[in-house]
Amino acid sequence: MKGIILAGGGGTRLHPLTKITSKQLLPIYNKPMIYYPLDTLIKAGIKEILIIVAPDRAGDFLRLLGSGSEFGVKFSFEIQDKPAGIAQAFTIGENFIGDDDVTLILGDNIFEQDFSEQIKNFKSGSLIFAKKVNDPERFGIVEFDENKKAIQIVEKPTEYISDYAVTGLYVYDNRVVGIAKNLSPSGRGELEITDVNNEYLKLNELNVSEVFGYWLDAGTFDSLLEANILIAKREGSKIV
Ligand code: G1P
Repeated sequence: MKGIILAGGGGTRLHPLTKITSKQLLPIYNKPMIYYPLDTLIKAGIKEILIIVAPDRAGDFLRLLGSGSEFGVKFSFEIQDKPAGIAQAFTIGENFIGDDDVTLILGDNIFEQDFSEQIKNFKSGSLIFAKKVNDPERFGIVEFDENKKAIQIVEKPTEYISDYAVTGLYVYDNRVVGIAKNLSPSGRGELEITDVNNEYLKLNELNVSEVFGYWLDAGTFDSLLEANILIAKREGSKIV
């Protein structure tokens, strides 16, 4: 199993915080944001991790993270020229992935849960993780039938279909590279991870597991603040 952290993008929703640095390098209490998704991959026993970054921030990530030896893993770096969608991680990462399976995590997603057993036990198809949210219009949303089987995934639905958001942690077998290569850009000009998931759904090989504990996509001012408060509490800060 290989790992990818996608930490590209301009973080424009967080301007001016992200005018001179990346969103994924902003502090979450006592660590840069990217340390949290990195920890999720390392805990799962993943040893080879590709970090995909925006061109003008590459040096900062390299200086912060280095070779990976400090973390007991090996890092590779690739550039995402433009924020052209999450699924582009698999075409950018094609050589890195080789013949292996791959776990992708978004560089601004922070989880409480330990996914190591599920990732280590992954065999084939795909495994994604869903969490109930109050603002389903912000996410990829999964609709279940009465047996809790996924029936469709819709990216940022304008009409209510369910409260279950697809979180930014995705486990796929090697076929994901071919699937990503055949995608066409969506209305917002991106290669959508939701389209990858719908391909696996069509093959009847999409597994959806519910996330326990907190999950944060620290991409807005409020979720960034919330992440800081939650992690500060977890780390025993006296002021929260
Ligand atoms: C992206 C995905 C969406 C997913 C979310 C998780 O949204 O497109 O399906 O639910 O990440 O953080 P975006 O960050 O592009 O708004």
